Amino acid sequence: MSHLIAPSILASDFANLQSESEMLDKSNADWFHIDVMDGVFVPNISFGMPVIKAIRKFSKKTFDVHLMIVEPQKYINDFKAAGADILTVHYEVCNHLHRTLQEIKAAGMKAGVALNPHTNVNVLDDIIQDIDLVCIMSVNPGFGGQSFIENTYNKVSALKEMINQKKSSALIEIDGGVTSANARKLLDSGADVLVAGSFVFKSNDPISTINDLKSV
Ligand code: DX5
Ligand code: ZN
Repeated sequence: MSHLIAPSILASDFANLQSESEMLDKSNADWFHIDVMDGVFVPNISFGMPVIKAIRKFSKKTFDVHLMIVEPQKYINDFKAAGADILTVHYEVCNHLHRTLQEIKAAGMKAGVALNPHTNVNVLDDIIQDIDLVCIMSVNPGFGGQSFIENTYNKVSALKEMINQKKSSALIEIDGGVTSANARKLLDSGADVLVAGSFVFKSNDPISTINDLKSV
């Protein structure tokens, strides 16, 4: 499988979400990466279901929803109703991760687990076969535009080895500080999906930046 690009709309112009969504829809982006923040798990608040529902009208592409919220299990059906296709919860907030993943799948979505920079990939050893997507945070979650943490490469290689060994079909997604300068090395380490916020939306030509990331 060739790699996937998931631009993060956190870095888009919120006053023009319709045109930003239409632009992504006609670009070569594979997924929309949608960051939901609650001001509790992370020190920032972004947006929630009503905004996802509003932009759902402008694209049929996969909506990859990254929940940076506590108690994500309470809102699974609400995010499905808003239009999520993939729902990713943070390992650090789930006391019953296995149950939460089953509930996400039962609601008709793919189930993802995100790991903070300090969380070792080994914590997924007993659940990797139940996961569709692992989101490796390559910055501390909460804000776009931060610099990439170099230890991410080691985490990706270790996770890829676990996935192969356990014959899991989980995809590895990298989230935070991704640019064309680190994309190749991430893919070589085993990444499947690259999230890019600022690098895409703050560029002069987001469509061609997406093409650049696609053809890395
Ligand atoms: C960070 C978010 C990321 C963020 C990435 O908390 O999960 O998805 O939008 O933005 P950049 O690519 O600017 O680091
Ligand atoms: Zn994200």
